[in-house]
Amino acid sequence: MKRATRADLLDVTEAPPGGSTSPHGVRFRPDHWLLVDGARIAGALPGDQPPGDDWQRVDHRGRLLMPGFVDTHVHCPQLDVIASYGANLLDWLNTFTFPAERRFADPHVAKAGAALFLDALLAHGTTTAVVFPTVHKVSAEALFEAAAARGMRLVTGKVLMDRHAPDGLRDDVAGAEADCRALIERWHGRGRSGYAVTPRFAATSTPAQLAMAGRLLADTPGAWMQTHVAENRAEVAWIAELFPEARSYLDVYARHGLLTDRAVLAHGIWLDDADRALLAATGAHIAFCPSSNLFLGSGLFGWRAARDAGVAVSMASDVGGGTSLSMLRTLADGYKVQAMAGNRLTAWALLHAATRGAAQALRLDGEIGCLEPGAMADVCLWDIAVGPVAQRRDALARELHERLFAWVTLGDERNLAETWVGGVRRYQRPTSPSA
Ligand code: GUN
Ligand code: ZN
Repeated sequence: MKRATRADLLDVTEAPPGGSTSPHGVRFRPDHWLLVDGARIAGALPGDQPPGDDWQRVDHRGRLLMPGFVDTHVHCPQLDVIASYGANLLDWLNTFTFPAERRFADPHVAKAGAALFLDALLAHGTTTAVVFPTVHKVSAEALFEAAAARGMRLVTGKVLMDRHAPDGLRDDVAGAEADCRALIERWHGRGRSGYAVTPRFAATSTPAQLAMAGRLLADTPGAWMQTHVAENRAEVAWIAELFPEARSYLDVYARHGLLTDRAVLAHGIWLDDADRALLAATGAHIAFCPSSNLFLGSGLFGWRAARDAGVAVSMASDVGGGTSLSMLRTLADGYKVQAMAGNRLTAWALLHAATRGAAQALRLDGEIGCLEPGAMADVCLWDIAVGPVAQRRDALARELHERLFAWVTLGDERNLAETWVGGVRRYQRPTSPSA
């Protein structure tokens, strides 16, 4: 199947220089055809040079066509507790999150939850995600199966927690290792699925379990590691009590061989310079979760310090700590959090972190996050402005950055017209938006 879509093509080719609104590193091709041959992008042509009759041609002139967003940290079972009132991290986990996660022991709940979650990601313009299921093997299995059915690039793995969690949510070292090895055997590198060794956070794994996680990672080429680090001050103090020998919270993971160039560490708010140097040296990166950090009152992530230290930063919704699966809303929150520190992120920097920058940090550049020939056709069609306020603002915008910054700031999933994964349309907005 050869398909050409006419739209305004936008992708980021290299990390945009900080602070500059001129489109360095940004490739904007107004009124072009994006050529998709089968599952992959084949190239692009100017609007007035359509491809031949062997191409199916579809006209979306005026719409923005971009790589699908990458959400590098999000919890499938936590759709059930999104927008839960009144708690900081540790209370929120105990009061809302753990009871909801327990339900995913049931294969029917896990299967329905995975389908709902992945369809919701696609309906928000996210085509790749690094996902936490629950401690139950079946919850990871359900996600892998649902992603394969949709052709999605998915990174996930059974959550490890063998202490400080309620009944029904704890595993043990030997059982967890057997479950992980079986899941790796079945899913890691199969189609677009990749395995992430997933200790929830240092508090919920014994040192023996963290050591097992490190062995799994060493034994599994190409595996990812995902966890939480330094999110909340009470959490940081607790980790210091649990691991008195460690120099820092991050050092707990380093000591167990968990910091690799495929490690995704969510939050990283309360880190110091030595931690940042360790992240840079190992190639591990931070998933910045601004919506969650604001909602749970966790703190303001230091983007500038991370970037100055050479640490990559991707963007993540962290639903259900975060309050929206929309990466546009997440980026808008990220802008505001950084504005608190006087760091004005451009639309280019934000979009880079949610597309190509994330792909690079995950070592998936070339497959996702860009519109290069050969990349998978994971793309979204967006209306830049929906509704009278955004349309008025768009009409007054004088240049590209102004338009796209307003889209990022005012937009959400209602701006999304279509989502394509591997050249197949997986989401189409049911009704056109009212003006
Ligand atoms: N730390 C440990 N578990 C969690 C979780 O589920 N969400 C967030 N935001 N932080 C965590
Ligand atoms: Zn999280």
